[in-house]
Amino acid sequence: MIETRLIDGKGFAEGLRARLAGEVAAFTARHGAAPGLAVVLVGSDPASSVYVRSKARQTVEVGMASYEHLLPAETGEDELLALLARLNADPGVNGILVQLPLPAHIDTQKVLAALDPAKDVDGFHVVNAGRLAVGLDALVPCTPLGCVMLLKHHLGSLAGLKAVVVGRSNIVGKPIAQLLLREDCTVTIAHSRTRDLPAECRQADILIAAVGRPEMVRGDWIKPGATVIDVGINRVAGPDGKNRLVGDVAFAEAQGIAGLITPVPGGVGPMTIACLLANTLTAARRQRGED
Ligand code: GUN
Repeated sequence: MIETRLIDGKGFAEGLRARLAGEVAAFTARHGAAPGLAVVLVGSDPASSVYVRSKARQTVEVGMASYEHLLPAETGEDELLALLARLNADPGVNGILVQLPLPAHIDTQKVLAALDPAKDVDGFHVVNAGRLAVGLDALVPCTPLGCVMLLKHHLGSLAGLKAVVVGRSNIVGKPIAQLLLREDCTVTIAHSRTRDLPAECRQADILIAAVGRPEMVRGDWIKPGATVIDVGINRVAGPDGKNRLVGDVAFAEAQGIAGLITPVPGGVGPMTIACLLANTLTAARRQRGED
């Protein structure tokens, strides 16, 4: 029986934020201005509102300036594009994040394309996606960046390992595959149409679950000793009728099979905002010609 160890994303993220706070203080002393992050939320989706509040709080906690733009759900696309143009031009704003999903009447790709790629701290602009794909310096999506940081911290070199990414979203699946390729993994991207998904997953030394389906990845899909990164955050009704958070992996079944696994909550989730703050500092440095 394998002893399954937990990957403590919450603790790692706390350490990362502490390091960032020191670097932010040094940046602010050098330039006489703190890095600034603008967050734009259209509408009042409860989950998005929670994220936006946490982002603002943690931004201020590491010593950066936070600008929140909370717009009503009926905000027009033109109005949003006009705000982004002002933020692109504002030298005090080094990073801009538009919280997704946007209301249906707004064209998400058009909005993302309107961001200055140098301020696109989510790494969702096609210029950043393209730069990542061809191996140039890019702003890299936060959740994938956090996952790869955790993997490198626990495994050291990832070279030659077989990674299976379940999920092909632009936000997680595709960029994480690019990052793992950059670390010299052999990468498979699997998805809902993959033939014999359990067999595909059983090949993985590193299994990344990013599908948004509660507990879809079962224990017997995991190769004994594999490292499992669970990106899912799903709210489900528990047996007592109360809501609880579960990942995309059947966590209890993975015990005794996986070598390492991220819990939900406390695994990948806390890394996302910490990496957003890291990206904002990176963007601010590049805009000042430092990196
Ligand atoms: N909605 C869900 N995840 C994300 C994210 O990482 N960035 C943004 N902007 N919106 C999201």
